[in-house]
Amino acid sequence: MAAFTELVFSGVQPTGNLHLGNYLGAVKRFVEMQDRDAQCLYCVVDLHAITVWQDPEALRGQIREVTAAFLAAGIDPRRAIVFNQSQVPQHAELAWVFNCVARLGWLNRMTQFKEKAGKDRENASIGLYDYPVLMAADILAYRATHVPVGEDQKQHLELTRDIAQKFNTDFVGSIAAHGHGEAFFPVTEPLIGGPAARVMSLRDGTKKMSKSDPSDNARINLTDDADAIAQKIRRAKTDPEPLPSEVAGLRERPEADNLVGIYAALAGITREEVLRDFGGAQFSTFKPALADLAVTSLAPIALEMRRLTADPGHIDAVLADGSARAEVIAAQTLDAVKDIVGFVRRGPSLQAVR
Ligand code: TYM
Repeated sequence: MAAFTELVFSGVQPTGNLHLGNYLGAVKRFVEMQDRDAQCLYCVVDLHAITVWQDPEALRGQIREVTAAFLAAGIDPRRAIVFNQSQVPQHAELAWVFNCVARLGWLNRMTQFKEKAGKDRENASIGLYDYPVLMAADILAYRATHVPVGEDQKQHLELTRDIAQKFNTDFVGSIAAHGHGEAFFPVTEPLIGGPAARVMSLRDGTKKMSKSDPSDNARINLTDDADAIAQKIRRAKTDPEPLPSEVAGLRERPEADNLVGIYAALAGITREEVLRDFGGAQFSTFKPALADLAVTSLAPIALEMRRLTADPGHIDAVLADGSARAEVIAAQTLDAVKDIVGFVRRGPSLQAVR
């Protein structure tokens, strides 16, 4: 079996309204992963964004805004590779190869497509249907071993594993003949966890916090100022009971569970530890404490995002540099994939030619 060194990849769509769920479920964890002994790649997935209509001028701003959020949250572009997907052509190229590996039946099971396409499925773009295959290509273009994401991406990561395994099996002879041992693609490990793997709406604890929720009060945006953050927490839906002292007492109390989970994730502690301090407390005590914590954690990020987005030239330079570094890795993978599949190619890899 080939040995794969640890490589972390994840992506965020530039579709506007980056929120607390994206931060706690993904971006905050990206920052923590930098301290592991691994190469990290963090990608603004603009090719994914256009699977639903995006206004071109707004899209450009949103790409820069997500990049600013990465940097403002603490991702260091010298240590991690920060880039946007459309600047590295190998993502789309590998997606085509994977389109020929993935099966229609696998994609037909994807629940996010069903949710996003809604009733008018005939009118959804083919890109929206193919979205998870492009996601597999994002990850496997770098032969990434670990992918930190929120819980809603679990099924997509299972598909990535299926595609990697089918490629490895379909081409096993050719993989060995080209000196890659028994397996070319790793079976990627999803990193889903912590107290905020699924942050729920502040208006309805049974619905995921989402960019597309029509109520702005349902989510805390990363661009919200201190007043807006505090007000949204104050108005968050709750039940009339005090907080329980055991985690089991949060069952059947989705709103309470959500707020305790948010507190835990922001403070870097567990739900148990939160309840050790707040068990028995009323929401009139807990909510102001949560609002204070959220404001101290998030307001500096919003401020830094504003500073960074005022200088788009700097952001574009970060993306250009990251894209060039990403492309060197992805080009090597694509050269090998072309050999394995049986294509005739032009010779030495891009690294040597450009
Ligand atoms: P996107 O932009 O929708 O979400 C970005 C990240 O935020 C997480 N997330 C949440 N986590 C907790 N609670 C929530 N309410 C919540 N809402 C969103 C998502 O799970 C995600 O980790 N398909 C991906 C983008 C992508 C990608 C990839 C990810 C494209 N290629 C390759 C990993 C690897 C997405 O939906 O992003």
